[in-house]
Amino acid sequence: MGPVLTCRTGPVAVRTLAVLTGVLLLSACNEGRQSVLNPSGRDAQLLFDLAKIMFVGALLLWLLVGALFVYVTRVNPYEMSRRLAEGLIVGGGVLFPVVLLGGLLVYSLPLMQAPRDADSGMRVHITAEQWWWRVDYELPDGSRVTSANELRLPVGRRTGLVLNAHKVIHAFWVPALGGKADMIPGRETYLSLLPEAVGTYRGQCAEFCGASHALMAFETVAMQPDAFNAWLTAEAQDAALPQGEQATRGAQVFAREGCGSCHTVRGTPAVGRVGPDLTHVGSRKSLGAGILGVEAPDFANWIAHTETLKPEVAMPSYDHLSRDDLQALAAYLGGLR
Ligand code: CUA
Repeated sequence: MGPVLTCRTGPVAVRTLAVLTGVLLLSACNEGRQSVLNPSGRDAQLLFDLAKIMFVGALLLWLLVGALFVYVTRVNPYEMSRRLAEGLIVGGGVLFPVVLLGGLLVYSLPLMQAPRDADSGMRVHITAEQWWWRVDYELPDGSRVTSANELRLPVGRRTGLVLNAHKVIHAFWVPALGGKADMIPGRETYLSLLPEAVGTYRGQCAEFCGASHALMAFETVAMQPDAFNAWLTAEAQDAALPQGEQATRGAQVFAREGCGSCHTVRGTPAVGRVGPDLTHVGSRKSLGAGILGVEAPDFANWIAHTETLKPEVAMPSYDHLSRDDLQALAAYLGGLR
């Protein structure tokens, strides 16, 4: 028995250490932009505190059980009295877990309320598509400002997110700001977030939803309330007119290729609702739901290679466009700020 234990514990310890080191290294990626270990919202902080309590508790329990094991196998390997044995079973096997788990339940149940809390006046409707995010800001008068693949939130205020999905189940998750919520076709779910620090946090679909599930991300920008209001006012405006010869020609290519039958560019004849709203696409943080930047080469790359960049996406690769047309289209879209 002895040699078996020795040769097994060696590699296991090494592997455990390697996994822990890997987790620590990964947690440092992206400066915590997509990390539950870097809570920047009230709800994420509550979850982080709960996780710390559970981790420390589990560690103490593990040490206690380990110590008992060593005690009964090495220190005192003799038969114990029936009274002590029964006491251990009832005390350690029934009473102790009931008290411990009961306490944890009493502590954790109220935490579930926070993400369900009412918003402080603003709601954003988010619909998960294959594989991108439709985002509608609901204004106090009931009208909506449509955007896509990016969420902006005011710091210090609780914003309500009304979640839905178009075809299959997805899940909304911004790890640095709060917990996950399923997005279910035909059924609205609700989540509210209260960002506490200005910053840009990455969100990711957290439910397998098809070929490009891993390519379904978005940026969440937490802004000071004044800056947020200014941004929302600008976002509600129609698209900017194309500036310069190349962008003007790009607008013509956009019309000629029928892009407007799937995409909306407010203030132009393009009113399609199949794909993301492009009214201010040039001012967003990312393209293709978090997979590319928003420089002109990114637009050209995306338009010509959608099917390679995002497998099974609805938009076909426009690889028949000439280089000039592609660059003109990229200049037009990049200028939609
Ligand atoms: Cu959407 Cu996974």
